[in-house]
Amino acid sequence: MNKTIIITGGAGFIGSHVVRRFVNTYPEYTIINLDKLTYAGNLANLKDIENKPNYKFVKGDITDAIFLKNLFSEEKPDAVIHLAAESHVDRSITNPIEFVMTNVVGTANLLNTAREQWKGEYDKHRFYHVSTDEVYGALGESGMFTEDTKYDPHSPYSASKAGSDHFVRAYHDTYGMDCVISNCSNNYGANHFPEKLIPLAINNIKNNKPVPVYGKGENVRDWLWVEDHARAIDVIFHKAKAGDTYNIGGHNEWKNINLIKLLCKIMDKKLGREEGTSEKLITYVTDRAGHDLRYAIDSTKLQKELGWVPSLQFEEGLEKTVDWYLQNEEWLSEVTSGAYQKYYEQQYKTK
Ligand code: NAD
Ligand code: TYD
Repeated sequence: MNKTIIITGGAGFIGSHVVRRFVNTYPEYTIINLDKLTYAGNLANLKDIENKPNYKFVKGDITDAIFLKNLFSEEKPDAVIHLAAESHVDRSITNPIEFVMTNVVGTANLLNTAREQWKGEYDKHRFYHVSTDEVYGALGESGMFTEDTKYDPHSPYSASKAGSDHFVRAYHDTYGMDCVISNCSNNYGANHFPEKLIPLAINNIKNNKPVPVYGKGENVRDWLWVEDHARAIDVIFHKAKAGDTYNIGGHNEWKNINLIKLLCKIMDKKLGREEGTSEKLITYVTDRAGHDLRYAIDSTKLQKELGWVPSLQFEEGLEKTVDWYLQNEEWLSEVTSGAYQKYYEQQYKTK
């Protein structure tokens, strides 16, 4: 069936994998990538599909309601898959209001534009909101987040994502719009901006720079390969019931310090360094304020109801990721020039 889908944030890390998957898997769909191209948005992520006939890029800001209204009137989208967001916890600590604007106001704007445009035919249109497990707060040593876990966000990032999730549910409950939400654990893979732990560590190890580990490195994250997330989004978009929520995760918990040590080992091998060389770069720095101890996702619902399972073992995925960064030096040097240097100095000078 022909469909026009607006994917927001398609020039970012996860969005670019989702756009690529939809453009290649569904040639009968028209995919419109709507992105503001902030520091995190990069059209180089989509070079391989930019000339495909079913792909179109539109530069725009989801906080601009007039722009959205015009875009929806012109393109008449059948559905929205919403990934555009400010996504980095550390940046949310230094600049929380930007997160409120994009993540809360931007999402409410998109919902409202869709509500007006799709009035009277909500059953024919889907609004899919991509969210994070961080809305559930922090776990202790045991337990996992399920779809019924109470929201308890701690950082300005997770609070703004929780706010956006509440708006999506409110539009479903109040207006009867067909809304779906998924909450995913930490992603890793190609095209990840090197302000997040894994690509930052790869870049620093490669350049023999200190690898900053917050606090004692005891915090635990549940890592999922980004292409497995994109596949989960595909399955949920096509199969979920209106109003449904799914958790997505890899059952793959790692303490930060153990992950970094594994990465050092892989990098030593790939760079032909003597084993143990890269580990010497590990540097413990001041902990993040309000640092959530542990995240772990229970994705049983998604696995049982929709048959999704992660495809890659972490060690294999991490090796693939390291290979990608070593083979894409130009991408890495482009995103780490200029503004990135300033961010890095600012972020790590106090640590
Ligand atoms: P990212 O920061 O790499 O990309 C975000 C994209 O949104 C960028 O291309 C940026 O230009 C665009 N954008 C930002 N503000 C915008 C605005 N006002 N208007 C239009 N576009 C705008 O983020 P990501 O890591 O790819 O995350 C994508 C989504 O997935 C986010 O909603 C995030 O909360 C969610 N998520 C991320 C992870 C993760 O591990 N990275 C895990 C679970 C959920
Ligand atoms: P990050 O990749 O920023 O993702 P999130 O905060 O959304 O989980 O961080 C992952 C973990 O790594 C988190 O516990 C914070 C920690 N961390 C460091 O120890 N050092 C760093 O330089 C960064 C960026 C993160």
